[in-house]
Amino acid sequence: MKKAHWLVGNWKMHGNLAANKALVDGLRQRLPTLSDAVQMVLCPALPYVAQMEGLVAGTGIMLGAQNASDHLKGAYTGETSPMMLKELGCGFVIIGHSERRSYQGETDGLMGRKALAAIDSGLVPIICVGETAEERDSGRTHEVLGRQLDAAFGYIRTAHDNIIVAYEPRWAIGTGIAATPEIVQAEHSFLRSRVAQRDADFAARLPILYGGSLKASNAKSVFDMPDVDGGLIGSAALNPDEFVAIYKALDIIARKAAKGNA
Ligand code: 13P
Repeated sequence: MKKAHWLVGNWKMHGNLAANKALVDGLRQRLPTLSDAVQMVLCPALPYVAQMEGLVAGTGIMLGAQNASDHLKGAYTGETSPMMLKELGCGFVIIGHSERRSYQGETDGLMGRKALAAIDSGLVPIICVGETAEERDSGRTHEVLGRQLDAAFGYIRTAHDNIIVAYEPRWAIGTGIAATPEIVQAEHSFLRSRVAQRDADFAARLPILYGGSLKASNAKSVFDMPDVDGGLIGSAALNPDEFVAIYKALDIIARKAAKGNA
């Protein structure tokens, strides 16, 4: 994957036809053209993917899903194939979000199989990893992150290249308490070096996003960290003022990085 900066909105189980349109309209009013330095991906609730494809057509905003099956087709009642998502206009899918691990009992192995099915369908998996407060407090953060990452990369090959990783500490999701920039940098650096053990070139290009109570007021300090390539945003993605302010904060940093690399 070309090294780039990413802002992904995870709308979770929010929205409806009218609210989705109002939100996309609100984003477009505040941001008539996207920056070429920051890619924007919106992940609406599944039933609205087709509506959203129409809303974002021609805007440069890309679409993702919040989950997909680890199978491509078959007798799996209630599941959604990543191939179907691809056909509906999705380019991305969030895999292994902690809310799915907590409430749907998703395991590390299932996450790896889902990531592989996504790649096989032409989607970019956004692979989420993160520790609980209890795991952090007992000094097991790296053990947990390493295990989750290894589980995913045990199924996929770095040669696929189109992969994004998101560090989302569970204690920071929806709590209003984001990880400090220092914690984010330390864990992103750990994740990148863990991936580098498999493929150093791939690891250097791998986008690693931070997620967990990111908002306009704390985004810049997190995005300033060298191993942070963007954000995965929950509640602030539902507010166009907040989401656009986060986007602009990332854009300033992404442009500086692009100049530095030129
Ligand atoms: P919040 O931004 O609401 O904490 O959610 C983060 C998240 O879970 C994104 O996937």
